[in-house]
Amino acid sequence: MDKKSHIIIVSNRLPLILKKTEGGKIEVGKGAGGLVTAMAPVLKNRKGTWIGWPGYVQESDIDDNMLPAIQTAASGYSVKPVMLNSNEVKNYYEGFSNSIIWPLFHDFTDKCIFLPEYWKSYQEVNKKFALTIYQDANDLDFIWVHDYQLILVGAQLRKMHIRNPIGFFLHTPFPPFDTFARCPWRFELLSAMLEYDIIGFHTIQNKRNFIRCVKKIIQDVQIDKKIKSNASVSELRLGNRKVRIGVFPISIDYNEFFLKAWDSDVYKRAKEMRKNAPDMKIILGVDRLDYTKGIPEKLIAFKQFLTCFPEFHKKSHFIQLVIPSRREISAYADLKLQIEQLVGEINGMFATGDWLPVQYMFRTLDRNELISLYRTCEIAFIAPLKDGMNLVAKEYCACNIDEKGVLILSEFAGAAQQFHQDAILVNPHDIEGMTKAIYKAFNMPLEERNQRMRNLREIVKNKDVFWWLNSFLNAAIEKDLSSFPQADEYLPFNLLK
Ligand code: G6P
Repeated sequence: MDKKSHIIIVSNRLPLILKKTEGGKIEVGKGAGGLVTAMAPVLKNRKGTWIGWPGYVQESDIDDNMLPAIQTAASGYSVKPVMLNSNEVKNYYEGFSNSIIWPLFHDFTDKCIFLPEYWKSYQEVNKKFALTIYQDANDLDFIWVHDYQLILVGAQLRKMHIRNPIGFFLHTPFPPFDTFARCPWRFELLSAMLEYDIIGFHTIQNKRNFIRCVKKIIQDVQIDKKIKSNASVSELRLGNRKVRIGVFPISIDYNEFFLKAWDSDVYKRAKEMRKNAPDMKIILGVDRLDYTKGIPEKLIAFKQFLTCFPEFHKKSHFIQLVIPSRREISAYADLKLQIEQLVGEINGMFATGDWLPVQYMFRTLDRNELISLYRTCEIAFIAPLKDGMNLVAKEYCACNIDEKGVLILSEFAGAAQQFHQDAILVNPHDIEGMTKAIYKAFNMPLEERNQRMRNLREIVKNKDVFWWLNSFLNAAIEKDLSSFPQADEYLPFNLLK
Protein backbone atom coordinates (compact mmCIF):
# COMPACT_ATOMS: atom_id res chain seq x y z
CA MET A 1 0.00 0.00 0.00
CA ASP A 2 1.30 3.42 -0.95
CA LYS A 3 1.52 6.08 1.78
CA LYS A 4 -1.12 8.18 0.06
CA SER A 5 -3.51 5.33 -0.53
CA HIS A 6 -6.69 4.99 1.47
CA ILE A 7 -8.16 1.76 2.68
CA ILE A 8 -11.69 0.64 1.90
CA ILE A 9 -13.12 -2.07 4.12
CA VAL A 10 -16.09 -3.96 2.77
CA SER A 11 -18.13 -6.38 4.86
CA ASN A 12 -21.72 -7.57 4.77
CA ARG A 13 -22.51 -5.75 8.00
CA LEU A 14 -21.39 -2.25 8.90
CA PRO A 15 -19.56 -1.93 12.23
CA LEU A 16 -22.58 -0.15 13.68
CA ILE A 17 -25.63 -1.26 15.56
CA LEU A 18 -28.79 0.18 14.04
CA LYS A 19 -32.19 -0.11 15.64
CA LYS A 20 -35.56 1.11 14.42
CA THR A 21 -37.52 2.59 17.31
CA GLU A 22 -41.28 2.08 17.57
CA GLY A 23 -41.87 5.50 16.05
CA GLY A 24 -39.84 4.47 13.00
CA LYS A 25 -36.81 6.55 14.03
CA ILE A 26 -33.39 5.01 13.54
CA GLU A 27 -30.96 4.80 16.43
CA VAL A 28 -27.31 4.29 15.61
CA GLY A 29 -24.71 2.95 18.01
CA LYS A 30 -21.09 1.90 17.71
CA GLY A 31 -20.48 -1.76 16.94
CA ALA A 32 -18.16 -3.83 19.08
CA GLY A 33 -16.03 -6.74 17.97
CA GLY A 34 -12.45 -7.40 16.95
CA LEU A 35 -12.68 -6.33 13.34
CA VAL A 36 -14.07 -2.91 14.28
CA THR A 37 -11.44 -2.35 16.96
CA ALA A 38 -8.61 -3.34 14.65
CA MET A 39 -9.83 -1.46 11.62
CA ALA A 40 -10.89 1.79 13.30
CA PRO A 41 -7.34 3.18 13.83
CA VAL A 42 -6.21 2.13 10.34
CA LEU A 43 -9.29 3.66 8.78
CA LYS A 44 -8.77 6.87 10.74
CA ASN A 45 -5.05 7.11 9.85
CA ARG A 46 -5.68 6.55 6.21
CA LYS A 47 -8.99 8.40 5.99
CA GLY A 48 -10.61 5.16 5.06
CA THR A 49 -14.14 4.08 4.30
CA TRP A 50 -16.22 1.16 5.57
CA ILE A 51 -18.86 -0.12 3.19
CA GLY A 52 -21.60 -2.49 4.37
CA TRP A 53 -25.24 -3.23 5.12
CA PRO A 54 -26.70 -1.44 8.16
CA GLY A 55 -28.57 -4.64 9.07
CA TYR A 56 -32.21 -3.76 8.51
CA VAL A 57 -34.58 -4.03 5.58
CA GLN A 58 -35.33 -0.97 3.48
CA GLU A 59 -37.48 -1.28 0.41
CA SER A 60 -36.40 1.94 -1.28
CA ASP A 61 -32.90 3.27 -1.82
CA ILE A 62 -30.87 5.00 0.77
CA ASP A 63 -32.60 7.33 3.20
CA ASP A 64 -30.31 10.36 3.27
CA ASN A 65 -31.51 11.41 6.74
CA MET A 66 -29.79 8.40 8.12
CA LEU A 67 -26.32 9.19 6.79
CA PRO A 68 -25.31 11.92 9.29
CA ALA A 69 -26.31 9.69 12.23
CA ILE A 70 -24.29 6.79 10.85
CA GLN A 71 -21.34 9.07 10.17
CA THR A 72 -21.32 10.47 13.70
CA ALA A 73 -21.36 6.98 15.19
CA ALA A 74 -18.37 5.95 13.08
CA SER A 75 -16.40 9.14 13.94
CA GLY A 76 -13.05 9.41 12.22
CA TYR A 77 -13.69 7.49 9.06
CA SER A 78 -16.42 7.49 6.49
CA VAL A 79 -19.21 4.96 6.21
CA LYS A 80 -21.18 4.06 3.08
CA PRO A 81 -24.28 1.96 3.64
CA VAL A 82 -25.51 -0.57 1.10
CA MET A 83 -29.26 -1.00 1.57
CA LEU A 84 -31.00 -4.33 1.11
CA ASN A 85 -34.69 -4.84 0.39
CA SER A 86 -36.72 -7.76 1.75
CA ASN A 87 -36.21 -9.81 -1.39
CA GLU A 88 -32.44 -9.39 -1.17
CA VAL A 89 -32.40 -10.21 2.52
CA LYS A 90 -34.37 -13.38 1.78
CA ASN A 91 -32.39 -14.57 -1.25
CA TYR A 92 -28.90 -13.12 -0.84
CA TYR A 93 -28.50 -13.02 2.97
CA GLU A 94 -30.71 -15.81 4.33
CA GLY A 95 -30.54 -17.72 1.05
CA PHE A 96 -27.20 -17.96 -0.76
CA SER A 97 -25.03 -16.66 2.10
CA ASN A 98 -26.60 -18.51 5.00
CA SER A 99 -28.38 -21.48 3.43
CA ILE A 100 -25.66 -22.37 0.93
CA ILE A 101 -22.18 -21.03 1.59
CA TRP A 102 -22.34 -20.98 5.39
CA PRO A 103 -23.43 -24.65 5.74
CA LEU A 104 -21.22 -25.77 2.81
CA PHE A 105 -18.08 -24.15 4.21
CA HIS A 106 -18.81 -25.68 7.64
CA ASP A 107 -19.34 -29.19 6.19
CA PHE A 108 -23.11 -29.19 6.79
CA THR A 109 -24.02 -30.16 3.25
CA ASP A 110 -27.39 -31.59 4.38
CA LYS A 111 -28.39 -28.03 5.31
CA CYS A 112 -27.56 -26.55 1.89
CA ILE A 113 -30.51 -25.44 -0.22
CA PHE A 114 -29.08 -24.99 -3.71
CA LEU A 115 -31.72 -22.71 -5.25
CA PRO A 116 -30.87 -20.83 -8.49
CA GLU A 117 -32.80 -17.76 -7.29
CA TYR A 118 -30.41 -17.55 -4.34
CA TRP A 119 -27.45 -17.58 -6.73
CA LYS A 120 -29.04 -14.87 -8.90
CA SER A 121 -29.61 -12.59 -5.92
CA TYR A 122 -26.11 -13.24 -4.56
CA GLN A 123 -24.62 -12.06 -7.87
CA GLU A 124 -26.87 -8.98 -7.95
CA VAL A 125 -26.15 -7.93 -4.36
CA ASN A 126 -22.40 -8.51 -4.76
CA LYS A 127 -22.61 -6.24 -7.81
CA LYS A 128 -24.45 -3.65 -5.73
CA PHE A 129 -21.62 -3.68 -3.17
CA ALA A 130 -19.06 -3.43 -6.01
CA LEU A 131 -20.86 -0.40 -7.45
CA THR A 132 -20.75 1.39 -4.09
CA ILE A 133 -17.00 0.69 -3.93
CA TYR A 134 -16.56 1.83 -7.54
CA GLN A 135 -18.15 5.19 -6.70
CA ASP A 136 -15.85 5.63 -3.71
CA ALA A 137 -12.45 4.25 -4.78
CA ASN A 138 -9.51 6.29 -6.00
CA ASP A 139 -6.72 4.74 -8.05
CA LEU A 140 -4.33 4.04 -5.19
CA ASP A 141 -6.83 2.76 -2.62
CA PHE A 142 -6.45 -0.71 -1.14
CA ILE A 143 -9.80 -2.48 -1.13
CA TRP A 144 -10.25 -5.18 1.51
CA VAL A 145 -13.34 -7.37 1.17
CA HIS A 146 -14.43 -9.57 4.08
CA ASP A 147 -16.12 -12.91 4.29
CA TYR A 148 -18.32 -15.40 2.51
CA GLN A 149 -21.23 -13.07 1.79
CA LEU A 150 -19.10 -11.06 -0.66
CA ILE A 151 -16.92 -13.53 -2.57
CA LEU A 152 -17.87 -12.10 -6.00
CA VAL A 153 -17.18 -8.45 -5.20
CA GLY A 154 -13.55 -8.52 -6.44
CA ALA A 155 -14.54 -10.08 -9.77
CA GLN A 156 -17.37 -7.56 -10.18
CA LEU A 157 -14.89 -4.73 -9.61
CA ARG A 158 -12.53 -6.17 -12.22
CA LYS A 159 -15.46 -6.18 -14.69
CA MET A 160 -15.85 -2.47 -13.92
CA HIS A 161 -12.13 -2.09 -14.87
CA ILE A 162 -11.02 -1.37 -11.31
CA ARG A 163 -7.28 -2.09 -11.22
CA ASN A 164 -6.68 -1.32 -7.53
CA PRO A 165 -5.12 -3.96 -5.28
CA ILE A 166 -7.98 -5.96 -3.77
CA GLY A 167 -7.68 -8.34 -0.83
CA PHE A 168 -10.14 -10.85 0.56
CA PHE A 169 -10.31 -12.46 4.00
CA LEU A 170 -12.46 -15.49 4.67
CA HIS A 171 -13.65 -15.54 8.30
CA THR A 172 -15.15 -19.03 7.97
CA PRO A 173 -13.36 -22.31 7.23
CA PHE A 174 -12.78 -23.31 3.61
CA PRO A 175 -14.04 -26.88 3.05
CA PRO A 176 -12.26 -29.89 1.56
CA PHE A 177 -12.67 -30.56 -2.18
CA ASP A 178 -15.28 -33.35 -1.75
CA THR A 179 -17.53 -30.91 0.10
CA PHE A 180 -16.91 -27.83 -2.02
CA ALA A 181 -17.40 -29.81 -5.25
CA ARG A 182 -21.11 -30.28 -4.42
CA CYS A 183 -21.83 -26.62 -5.04
CA PRO A 184 -23.44 -26.07 -8.47
CA TRP A 185 -21.60 -22.71 -8.69
CA ARG A 186 -18.19 -24.05 -7.58
CA PHE A 187 -16.39 -22.89 -10.73
CA GLU A 188 -17.86 -19.40 -10.60
CA LEU A 189 -17.07 -18.97 -6.89
CA LEU A 190 -13.47 -20.16 -7.21
CA SER A 191 -12.77 -18.17 -10.38
CA ALA A 192 -14.11 -15.08 -8.63
CA MET A 193 -11.85 -15.68 -5.63
CA LEU A 194 -8.86 -15.81 -7.95
CA GLU A 195 -9.58 -12.23 -9.07
CA TYR A 196 -8.31 -10.98 -5.71
CA ASP A 197 -4.62 -10.13 -5.31
CA ILE A 198 -4.43 -11.70 -1.89
CA ILE A 199 -6.71 -14.14 -0.05
CA GLY A 200 -6.40 -14.75 3.68
CA PHE A 201 -7.48 -17.81 5.66
CA HIS A 202 -7.33 -18.60 9.38
CA THR A 203 -5.54 -21.94 9.13
CA ILE A 204 -3.16 -23.95 6.99
CA GLN A 205 -5.88 -26.58 6.56
CA ASN A 206 -8.21 -23.98 4.96
CA LYS A 207 -5.44 -22.79 2.68
CA ARG A 208 -4.62 -26.34 1.58
CA ASN A 209 -8.28 -27.10 0.94
CA PHE A 210 -8.56 -24.00 -1.21
CA ILE A 211 -5.44 -24.75 -3.24
CA ARG A 212 -6.61 -28.34 -3.82
CA CYS A 213 -10.00 -27.08 -5.06
CA VAL A 214 -8.28 -24.61 -7.37
CA LYS A 215 -6.04 -27.36 -8.79
CA LYS A 216 -8.98 -29.73 -9.36
CA ILE A 217 -11.60 -27.27 -10.55
CA ILE A 218 -9.66 -24.51 -12.30
CA GLN A 219 -6.61 -26.61 -13.23
CA ASP A 220 -4.80 -24.01 -15.31
CA VAL A 221 -2.85 -22.67 -12.38
CA GLN A 222 0.74 -22.95 -11.19
CA ILE A 223 2.13 -22.61 -7.70
CA ASP A 224 5.29 -20.55 -7.47
CA LYS A 225 7.98 -23.05 -6.43
CA LYS A 226 10.10 -20.48 -4.61
CA ILE A 227 7.28 -19.45 -2.37
CA LYS A 228 5.59 -22.81 -2.09
CA SER A 229 8.00 -23.77 0.70
CA ASN A 230 6.49 -21.08 2.87
CA ALA A 231 3.45 -22.49 4.64
CA SER A 232 2.27 -19.03 5.57
CA VAL A 233 1.95 -17.38 2.16
CA SER A 234 1.98 -19.00 -1.29
CA GLU A 235 1.72 -17.47 -4.70
CA LEU A 236 -0.47 -18.91 -7.43
CA ARG A 237 0.28 -17.99 -11.02
CA LEU A 238 -2.59 -17.71 -13.48
CA GLY A 239 -1.23 -16.64 -16.84
CA ASN A 240 0.58 -13.40 -16.10
CA ARG A 241 -1.35 -12.70 -12.89
CA LYS A 242 -0.32 -13.72 -9.39
CA VAL A 243 -2.58 -14.38 -6.42
CA ARG A 244 -1.19 -14.63 -2.92
CA ILE A 245 -2.78 -17.11 -0.55
CA GLY A 246 -1.94 -16.70 3.11
CA VAL A 247 -2.66 -17.91 6.64
CA PHE A 248 -3.51 -15.17 9.14
CA PRO A 249 -5.34 -16.35 12.29
CA ILE A 250 -7.57 -13.49 13.45
CA SER A 251 -7.54 -12.45 17.08
CA ILE A 252 -8.89 -9.94 19.59
CA ASP A 253 -7.67 -6.69 21.07
CA TYR A 254 -5.94 -8.44 24.00
CA ASN A 255 -5.24 -5.22 25.91
CA GLU A 256 -8.82 -4.07 25.75
CA PHE A 257 -10.11 -7.32 27.29
CA PHE A 258 -7.25 -7.58 29.74
CA LEU A 259 -7.83 -4.05 31.04
CA LYS A 260 -11.60 -4.53 31.20
CA ALA A 261 -11.09 -7.64 33.32
CA TRP A 262 -9.45 -5.38 35.97
CA ASP A 263 -12.36 -2.94 35.92
CA SER A 264 -13.90 -2.36 39.36
CA ASP A 265 -17.44 -3.01 38.11
CA VAL A 266 -16.32 -6.31 36.61
CA TYR A 267 -14.58 -7.20 39.87
CA LYS A 268 -17.74 -6.42 41.89
CA ARG A 269 -19.91 -8.54 39.61
CA ALA A 270 -17.42 -11.43 39.65
CA LYS A 271 -17.21 -11.31 43.44
CA GLU A 272 -20.99 -11.32 43.72
CA MET A 273 -21.26 -14.31 41.42
CA ARG A 274 -18.68 -16.18 43.48
CA LYS A 275 -20.47 -15.30 46.73
CA ASN A 276 -23.67 -16.83 45.39
CA ALA A 277 -21.97 -20.09 44.41
CA PRO A 278 -19.13 -20.56 46.91
CA ASP A 279 -18.48 -24.30 46.47
CA MET A 280 -19.44 -24.54 42.87
CA LYS A 281 -17.24 -24.90 39.81
CA ILE A 282 -18.82 -23.02 36.94
CA ILE A 283 -18.53 -24.12 33.32
CA LEU A 284 -19.20 -21.41 30.75
CA GLY A 285 -20.40 -21.69 27.16
CA VAL A 286 -20.83 -18.59 24.99
CA ASP A 287 -22.03 -19.15 21.44
CA ARG A 288 -24.02 -17.42 18.73
CA LEU A 289 -27.14 -19.47 17.99
CA ASP A 290 -25.73 -21.70 15.25
CA TYR A 291 -25.78 -25.41 14.42
CA THR A 292 -22.01 -25.22 13.80
CA LYS A 293 -21.36 -24.39 17.46
CA GLY A 294 -22.11 -27.83 18.91
CA ILE A 295 -24.38 -26.52 21.69
CA PRO A 296 -26.62 -29.65 21.94
CA GLU A 297 -23.50 -31.87 21.99
CA LYS A 298 -22.14 -29.88 24.95
CA LEU A 299 -25.41 -30.19 26.84
CA ILE A 300 -25.53 -33.94 26.20
CA ALA A 301 -21.93 -34.27 27.43
CA PHE A 302 -22.79 -32.33 30.59
CA LYS A 303 -25.80 -34.57 31.17
CA GLN A 304 -23.54 -37.60 30.78
CA PHE A 305 -21.06 -36.03 33.19
CA LEU A 306 -23.74 -35.63 35.87
CA THR A 307 -24.94 -39.19 35.24
CA CYS A 308 -21.45 -40.73 35.49
CA PHE A 309 -20.10 -38.58 38.32
CA PRO A 310 -22.83 -37.96 40.93
CA GLU A 311 -20.17 -36.59 43.28
CA PHE A 312 -20.27 -33.41 41.16
CA HIS A 313 -23.98 -32.80 41.78
CA LYS A 314 -24.38 -29.47 43.54
CA LYS A 315 -20.69 -28.83 42.83
CA SER A 316 -20.99 -28.01 39.16
CA HIS A 317 -22.99 -25.45 37.27
CA PHE A 318 -23.13 -24.95 33.51
CA ILE A 319 -23.91 -21.44 32.25
CA GLN A 320 -24.73 -21.51 28.55
CA LEU A 321 -25.19 -18.13 26.92
CA VAL A 322 -26.70 -18.27 23.44
CA ILE A 323 -26.61 -15.07 21.40
CA PRO A 324 -29.65 -14.71 19.09
CA SER A 325 -28.83 -15.02 15.39
CA ARG A 326 -30.46 -15.64 11.97
CA ARG A 327 -33.72 -16.83 13.50
CA GLU A 328 -35.69 -16.36 10.30
CA ILE A 329 -33.86 -19.42 8.93
CA SER A 330 -35.65 -22.61 9.98
CA ALA A 331 -32.46 -24.52 10.87
CA TYR A 332 -31.73 -21.84 13.48
CA ALA A 333 -35.27 -21.74 14.87
CA ASP A 334 -35.22 -25.57 15.16
CA LEU A 335 -31.89 -25.49 16.95
CA LYS A 336 -33.26 -23.06 19.53
CA LEU A 337 -36.07 -25.47 20.34
CA GLN A 338 -33.65 -28.40 20.58
CA ILE A 339 -31.40 -26.49 23.01
CA GLU A 340 -34.35 -25.45 25.17
CA GLN A 341 -35.65 -28.99 25.29
CA LEU A 342 -32.26 -30.34 26.37
CA VAL A 343 -31.84 -27.68 29.06
CA GLY A 344 -35.32 -28.54 30.39
CA GLU A 345 -34.51 -32.24 30.33
CA ILE A 346 -31.24 -31.88 32.26
CA ASN A 347 -32.68 -29.52 34.84
CA GLY A 348 -35.75 -31.76 35.15
CA MET A 349 -33.56 -34.80 35.79
CA PHE A 350 -31.06 -33.35 38.24
CA ALA A 351 -32.20 -30.03 39.76
CA THR A 352 -32.90 -29.83 43.48
CA GLY A 353 -34.46 -27.10 45.60
CA ASP A 354 -31.07 -25.43 46.00
CA TRP A 355 -29.26 -26.36 42.79
CA LEU A 356 -29.91 -25.70 39.11
CA PRO A 357 -27.43 -27.62 36.93
CA VAL A 358 -27.85 -25.58 33.73
CA GLN A 359 -28.44 -21.85 33.52
CA TYR A 360 -29.45 -20.96 29.98
CA MET A 361 -29.59 -17.39 28.66
CA PHE A 362 -30.81 -16.46 25.21
CA ARG A 363 -29.81 -12.84 24.67
CA THR A 364 -26.81 -10.55 24.28
CA LEU A 365 -25.03 -9.55 27.47
CA ASP A 366 -23.41 -6.19 27.93
CA ARG A 367 -19.61 -6.19 27.78
CA ASN A 368 -19.06 -5.97 31.56
CA GLU A 369 -21.46 -8.84 32.29
CA LEU A 370 -19.71 -11.02 29.74
CA ILE A 371 -16.22 -10.16 30.99
CA SER A 372 -17.32 -10.86 34.59
CA LEU A 373 -18.38 -14.33 33.43
CA TYR A 374 -15.04 -14.87 31.70
CA ARG A 375 -13.28 -13.78 34.90
CA THR A 376 -15.33 -15.94 37.23
CA CYS A 377 -15.95 -19.25 35.48
CA GLU A 378 -13.37 -21.96 36.11
CA ILE A 379 -13.94 -23.73 32.82
CA ALA A 380 -14.74 -22.43 29.34
CA PHE A 381 -16.43 -25.09 27.24
CA ILE A 382 -16.13 -24.29 23.54
CA ALA A 383 -16.96 -27.24 21.31
CA PRO A 384 -17.96 -26.19 17.77
CA LEU A 385 -18.40 -28.93 15.19
CA LYS A 386 -16.56 -26.56 12.88
CA ASP A 387 -15.50 -22.94 13.39
CA GLY A 388 -13.39 -20.48 11.42
CA MET A 389 -11.51 -19.27 14.50
CA ASN A 390 -13.68 -18.82 17.65
CA LEU A 391 -12.84 -15.57 19.34
CA VAL A 392 -14.69 -16.48 22.55
CA ALA A 393 -11.79 -18.85 23.34
CA LYS A 394 -9.36 -15.94 22.99
CA GLU A 395 -11.55 -13.53 24.97
CA TYR A 396 -11.84 -16.04 27.81
CA CYS A 397 -8.05 -16.38 28.06
CA ALA A 398 -7.43 -12.62 27.88
CA CYS A 399 -9.90 -12.04 30.75
CA ASN A 400 -8.75 -14.94 32.92
CA ILE A 401 -6.41 -12.70 34.87
CA ASP A 402 -6.17 -15.08 37.87
CA GLU A 403 -4.84 -17.71 35.43
CA LYS A 404 -6.83 -20.45 37.16
CA GLY A 405 -9.23 -21.22 34.34
CA VAL A 406 -9.26 -24.21 32.02
CA LEU A 407 -10.16 -24.07 28.34
CA ILE A 408 -11.93 -27.07 26.79
CA LEU A 409 -11.75 -26.53 23.05
CA SER A 410 -12.94 -28.39 19.98
CA GLU A 411 -10.18 -29.61 17.70
CA PHE A 412 -12.35 -28.33 14.83
CA ALA A 413 -12.15 -24.68 15.90
CA GLY A 414 -9.53 -22.64 14.03
CA ALA A 415 -8.22 -21.56 17.47
CA ALA A 416 -7.06 -25.17 18.07
CA GLN A 417 -4.25 -24.48 15.61
CA GLN A 418 -2.71 -22.08 18.13
CA PHE A 419 -4.05 -23.55 21.41
CA HIS A 420 -3.59 -27.29 20.92
CA GLN A 421 -0.86 -27.63 23.54
CA ASP A 422 -2.53 -25.91 26.47
CA ALA A 423 -6.27 -26.29 25.99
CA ILE A 424 -7.98 -29.64 26.63
CA LEU A 425 -8.84 -30.57 23.06
CA VAL A 426 -12.06 -32.47 22.39
CA ASN A 427 -13.81 -34.03 19.44
CA PRO A 428 -17.37 -32.65 19.78
CA HIS A 429 -18.79 -35.78 18.14
CA ASP A 430 -17.28 -37.91 20.91
CA ILE A 431 -19.64 -37.41 23.87
CA GLU A 432 -17.71 -39.79 26.12
CA GLY A 433 -14.48 -37.96 25.33
CA MET A 434 -16.12 -34.62 26.19
CA THR A 435 -17.45 -36.05 29.47
CA LYS A 436 -13.90 -37.12 30.36
CA ALA A 437 -12.60 -33.68 29.37
CA ILE A 438 -15.00 -32.01 31.83
CA TYR A 439 -13.84 -34.44 34.52
CA LYS A 440 -10.21 -33.70 33.70
CA ALA A 441 -10.84 -29.93 33.83
CA PHE A 442 -12.53 -30.31 37.24
CA ASN A 443 -9.58 -32.23 38.65
CA MET A 444 -6.67 -30.39 37.08
CA PRO A 445 -4.16 -29.28 39.73
CA LEU A 446 -3.85 -25.54 40.25
CA GLU A 447 -0.22 -25.46 39.15
CA GLU A 448 -1.02 -27.09 35.82
CA ARG A 449 -4.00 -24.77 35.27
CA ASN A 450 -1.76 -21.76 35.96
CA GLN A 451 0.89 -22.94 33.54
CA ARG A 452 -1.51 -23.75 30.73
CA MET A 453 -3.50 -20.54 31.09
CA ARG A 454 -0.32 -18.47 31.18
CA ASN A 455 0.81 -20.07 27.91
CA LEU A 456 -2.58 -19.50 26.29
CA ARG A 457 -2.65 -15.87 27.36
CA GLU A 458 0.85 -15.36 26.00
CA ILE A 459 -0.29 -16.53 22.57
CA VAL A 460 -3.30 -14.19 22.56
CA LYS A 461 -1.14 -11.31 23.76
CA ASN A 462 1.59 -11.83 21.17
CA LYS A 463 -0.68 -12.49 18.24
CA ASP A 464 -3.49 -10.03 18.81
CA VAL A 465 -5.80 -8.46 16.25
CA PHE A 466 -3.26 -5.78 15.37
CA TRP A 467 -0.69 -8.47 14.59
CA TRP A 468 -3.33 -10.12 12.34
CA LEU A 469 -4.07 -6.90 10.53
CA ASN A 470 -0.37 -6.06 9.98
CA SER A 471 0.43 -9.59 8.80
CA PHE A 472 -2.30 -9.44 6.17
CA LEU A 473 -1.44 -5.95 4.96
CA ASN A 474 2.31 -6.73 4.90
CA ALA A 475 1.72 -9.90 2.90
CA ALA A 476 -0.31 -7.80 0.48
CA ILE A 477 2.57 -5.40 -0.18
CA GLU A 478 5.70 -7.49 0.59
CA LYS A 479 7.91 -8.03 -2.46
CA ASP A 480 9.94 -11.01 -1.22
CA LEU A 481 7.67 -13.52 0.47
CA SER A 482 10.25 -16.23 1.03
CA SER A 483 11.32 -14.64 4.32
CA PHE A 484 7.73 -14.15 5.51
CA PRO A 485 7.15 -15.73 8.98
CA GLN A 486 5.74 -19.23 8.97
CA ALA A 487 2.22 -19.88 10.21
CA ASP A 488 1.64 -22.16 13.21
CA GLU A 489 0.99 -25.57 11.80
CA TYR A 490 -1.44 -27.90 13.47
CA LEU A 491 -3.85 -30.46 12.12
CA PRO A 492 -6.59 -32.00 14.27
CA PHE A 493 -5.63 -35.47 15.50
CA ASN A 494 -7.90 -37.43 13.25
CA LEU A 495 -6.62 -35.64 10.18
CA LEU A 496 -3.00 -36.51 10.91
CA LYS A 497 -3.44 -40.15 10.00
C1 G6P B 1 -19.91 -15.08 11.48
C2 G6P B 1 -19.53 -14.55 10.10
C3 G6P B 1 -19.68 -13.04 10.03
C4 G6P B 1 -21.07 -12.64 10.50
C5 G6P B 1 -21.33 -13.17 11.92
C6 G6P B 1 -22.74 -12.85 12.44
O1 G6P B 1 -18.95 -14.71 12.41
O2 G6P B 1 -18.22 -14.96 9.75
O3 G6P B 1 -19.46 -12.58 8.72
O4 G6P B 1 -21.24 -11.25 10.46
O5 G6P B 1 -21.18 -14.59 11.89
O6 G6P B 1 -23.71 -13.31 11.57
P1 G6P B 1 -24.79 -12.36 10.88
O7 G6P B 1 -25.49 -13.24 9.90
O8 G6P B 1 -25.66 -11.89 11.99
O9 G6P B 1 -24.04 -11.24 10.24
